[in-house]
Amino acid sequence: MKRGMCPGTFDPVTSGHLDIIERAAALFDDLVVAVALSPDKGGGPLFSVEERCAFIESATAHLPNVSVRAFDTLLVEFASQVGASVIIKGLRAVTDFEREFQMAQLNYRLSTDIETMFIMAIPEYMYLSSSAVKEIARHAGPTRGLVPDEVHDALVERLTGSR
Ligand code: PNS
Repeated sequence: MKRGMCPGTFDPVTSGHLDIIERAAALFDDLVVAVALSPDKGGGPLFSVEERCAFIESATAHLPNVSVRAFDTLLVEFASQVGASVIIKGLRAVTDFEREFQMAQLNYRLSTDIETMFIMAIPEYMYLSSSAVKEIARHAGPTRGLVPDEVHDALVERLTGSR
């Protein structure tokens, strides 16, 4: 059985992430979405790790081979702990490449048992990121369609204090 792992901060999960998760799930028997606690990232995440996991669980409920787990260790340690041998990440544009290339090299140095593979974002989601979505929501702009409806509602509530 081949188990893959889609890691990220997912603060919050976007339609772009979900496209990558869905396409990765079709390539593996089993896929673990690994949600990093990331307490240090940009002043701390907007949503708790429990909230971030719950959003992904609802949005992937139709994918029987996908499970969602939080982690707060090295990624390769978590991957080997759950028996995942491949890390799958989405690549949007060249701007993602350098950071992703560095992480893939470091992860390979930390564990040669775990490979990293990349899935290219579809053009519709090339521009989409969790930070851009939060910025739009902070200014009460439209985020519907960029994130699952449940996340849209939570963003509106969290960032503008209304529904
Ligand atoms: O959503 P992101 O920013 O692309 O996710 C980055 C993430 C969580 C995959 C990365 O920061 C990570 O793997 N964190 C766990 C700590 C770790 O293993 N670091 C070494 C690899 S650079």
